[in-house]
Amino acid sequence: MESTSDSLNWWQHGVIYQIYPRSFQDSNGDGVGDLPGILSRLDYLQSLGVNAVWLSPIYPSPMADFGYDICDYENIDPVFGALGDFDRLVQELHRRALKLILDFVPNHTSDRHPWFQESRRSTGSQRRNWYIWRPPGPGGGPPNNWLSEFGGPAWTLDPQTGQYYYHAYLPQQPDLNWREPEVQDAMHGVMRFWLDRGVDGFRVDAIHMLVEDEQLRDNPLNLAWEPGMSPARSLVRVHSSDQPETHHLVAGMRKVLDSYAARVLIGEAYLPISRLMMYYGDGLGGFHLPFNFHLLSTPWNATAIAALAREYEAALPTGAWPNWVLGNHDRSRLINRIGGPAQARLAAMLLLTLRGTPTLYYGDELGMHDVVIPSESIRDPWEKNIPGLGLGRDPCRTPMQWSAEQYAGFSSASPWLPLSDDCETVNVTTESSDPHSLLNLYRALLRLRRDEPALAIGEYREHSVGPRVLSYERIASGRRVLVALNFGAEPCSLPVLPGVNLSVLVSTDPRGPFASTASEKLHLRATEGIIARIV
Ligand code: GLC
Repeated sequence: MESTSDSLNWWQHGVIYQIYPRSFQDSNGDGVGDLPGILSRLDYLQSLGVNAVWLSPIYPSPMADFGYDICDYENIDPVFGALGDFDRLVQELHRRALKLILDFVPNHTSDRHPWFQESRRSTGSQRRNWYIWRPPGPGGGPPNNWLSEFGGPAWTLDPQTGQYYYHAYLPQQPDLNWREPEVQDAMHGVMRFWLDRGVDGFRVDAIHMLVEDEQLRDNPLNLAWEPGMSPARSLVRVHSSDQPETHHLVAGMRKVLDSYAARVLIGEAYLPISRLMMYYGDGLGGFHLPFNFHLLSTPWNATAIAALAREYEAALPTGAWPNWVLGNHDRSRLINRIGGPAQARLAAMLLLTLRGTPTLYYGDELGMHDVVIPSESIRDPWEKNIPGLGLGRDPCRTPMQWSAEQYAGFSSASPWLPLSDDCETVNVTTESSDPHSLLNLYRALLRLRRDEPALAIGEYREHSVGPRVLSYERIASGRRVLVALNFGAEPCSLPVLPGVNLSVLVSTDPRGPFASTASEKLHLRATEGIIARIV
């Protein structure tokens, strides 16, 4: 049977919008975004045309890693508001037919979490086994050679018991021991707490780091490592990441989720395509959407992108639903990675026309770029620990640019991270009133995606690939749509299938469509992308 939007789940035909809550909208003048701030911007999300909002962590946290170090899984950090604000947010989003996805961080807690406090008290503590403790290695140092993602060893000696604990990230983020059934139960309880409050799903943090080799074998050296790369990459994480036991633990999370109707489970795993596919799980009982981050690192040209789409489509298990990501709070802004505003317009078209659920990072729809952070304003622990290599993530986490007012309409006080110096022109208000802005291109593409089932759910068929041009069709219920993207700096033309007429629906070119509809060739301007109905 052919799928229609109605027979698919909301997370298949919908578009996800990621909000980094510290940076979206401040309501109380402390320079940090909060839940009432997000509530006050729901009209914007509706006018943009996205379907679901994913919030990076909002739980009580000492903020060593800005919310990814949680000391209470079942509450809201006062900087963001209170549970009442959260309940209002759920209600208001749902009233507008928008969904809410929360970040779920199962790999580690904060070192201030009462579980860890109890665990560290003594080797006989009731919760000792909730974390990963080991006596010093034979030479008296850490138990093995594993490295923390954020610099230094992945083991910290706790003087209280003379043992080391493991942390894949900061020492303030001790790893939970998921081999301990009590940990699994406790974390399933956390999921239920939020599902009962009405959340529509989770984005599960750092899932490939959940389980470690039971024998804690040393990781081998990475022979491809060079100075300038993250020190953590000097080892290959053979024994500390992507362990086979992870999959049944994901299936356990999925079971909890499936005891509620119409929820989604998304996994964060930076892995090669073949490994990533395993995270759909046996019988598709794992993640609905293991995040596909490959567009973040693929060279930005037609041949490489076409090859990626081909490889990814071919590797999908039967029945698995694809997804695409072009930006997030851990990576350089899209516009910096791919080379400027015209390419950002092509990227918008690509993200919203490839087959699968797109995730859009706040501000990318405006063309926000990485902001240079003066050293006194650096907040990210990664940059503080390993300065100067460009690892820091502050540049892509700067405040949302709402207007040309003071502090870009984000706050009445100086924001926690500096604003971009282009916020007087690159902002929601200015771009909303310019019909040719990137924001209005996003709106047009999102509208078209909503109205045209071929784009939302249709099959993907590669049409032609040249060194500069990629074109493909999306097909559903007899409706055919052609997408043609010219990544090059020169105009070009493509042969059109004989006997078809094209009716161009959207062009990325601010001057509007140029392509003629009935000729034998489709002409594209330099860095122009078009979507055309095939009739
Ligand atoms: C994930 C998050 C990142 C965080 C890390 C540790 O990769 O996206 O922001 O620092 O996990 O929780």
